[in-house]
Amino acid sequence: MSTSSKIAQDATKQPRTFEVPQHPKWPLLDEGEKEALKARIKQLLIEKNAVLVAHYYTDGDLQDLAEETGGCVSDSLEMARFGHAHDAPTLVVAGVRFMGETAKILSPEKRILMPDLNATCSLDEGCPPDQFAAFCEAHPDHTVVVYANTSAAVKAHADWMVTSSIALPIIKHLKARGEKILWAPDRHLGHYIQSVTGVDMLMWDGSCVVHEEFKSVALERIRKLHPDAAVLVHPESPADVIEQADVVGSTTALINAVTRMANSEFIVATDDGIFHKMALLAPDKILIEAPTAGHGATCESCGHCPWMAMNALQNLETTLQTGNNEIRIDETLRKRAVLPIQRMLDFASKQ
Ligand code: 13P
Ligand code: SF4
Repeated sequence: MSTSSKIAQDATKQPRTFEVPQHPKWPLLDEGEKEALKARIKQLLIEKNAVLVAHYYTDGDLQDLAEETGGCVSDSLEMARFGHAHDAPTLVVAGVRFMGETAKILSPEKRILMPDLNATCSLDEGCPPDQFAAFCEAHPDHTVVVYANTSAAVKAHADWMVTSSIALPIIKHLKARGEKILWAPDRHLGHYIQSVTGVDMLMWDGSCVVHEEFKSVALERIRKLHPDAAVLVHPESPADVIEQADVVGSTTALINAVTRMANSEFIVATDDGIFHKMALLAPDKILIEAPTAGHGATCESCGHCPWMAMNALQNLETTLQTGNNEIRIDETLRKRAVLPIQRMLDFASKQ
């Protein structure tokens, strides 16, 4: 595994050590079946004294259900804050595993359930804790900052955790203190932060299989067809896609841009689950998916995270019925992993 930003540029040549799953094919429900299923889940949430916390990339029905039942739909920072602050003894996290783990690390007294514990993330999978520990040990003079999309075991080696919505202010703060950064795991987000702040940064070479597929040449072509469209890009995307952005930011920042900006058209480079919220908030705006591949080319995730797609109404109901799929974290590990997360939350509360 590479241990510098220079070597990280060759990362795509390295063999991948994990499988990217196929998108699950959930049985189609007619409106009546869907409403009946949602009603049963609402009842279960009440019976189990549970609250649903969902990410913007999950299925639109899950997002609606979370909001209709007093839960929340948000980016990964707000998911962590909401789950921690809520007094329900059970949180059901519809998203990917690191989101459930973060909830458990922050609230060990709560029961954290997930519709599918196999819903992971290519960034998490691409950063094995033992190799990451060796990377940290080789650079003891660096402040270790990890992205939220990592395992509890990786967070346990970190000084700080950040999400995309707070990465820049935290790194600027650390740079002002003269600190050198060891960053993991997303090299695209790392390069973006590095280019904005100019911080001294060593980088892991992970990437998001969804955002990495956005293609700059195809994006240039679409921009010519829609010259008045604003381009919104999540910073896990490649640098040549980010360079074309009018707004670079977290999922929340991109949603806010659609409601705030006067443009009537938007080209959006992030997981297509985000269109559900964008369309609800700005029904008059035209939303265009940024291209993931040229005509005839193959794409692996095609703009939708295969792990986020493992969350559905069907397995949410089963999880609530059975209580299976509970997140458990060793207490010694948790006590170490909570430090970088709490540091981020404390910083965020002063912003
Ligand atoms: P946000 O924190 O911006 O919601 O991003 C989480 C994520 O996994 C993006 O791929
Ligand atoms: Fe991970 Fe990418 Fe999926 Fe986000 S979209 S959870 S970064 S694989």
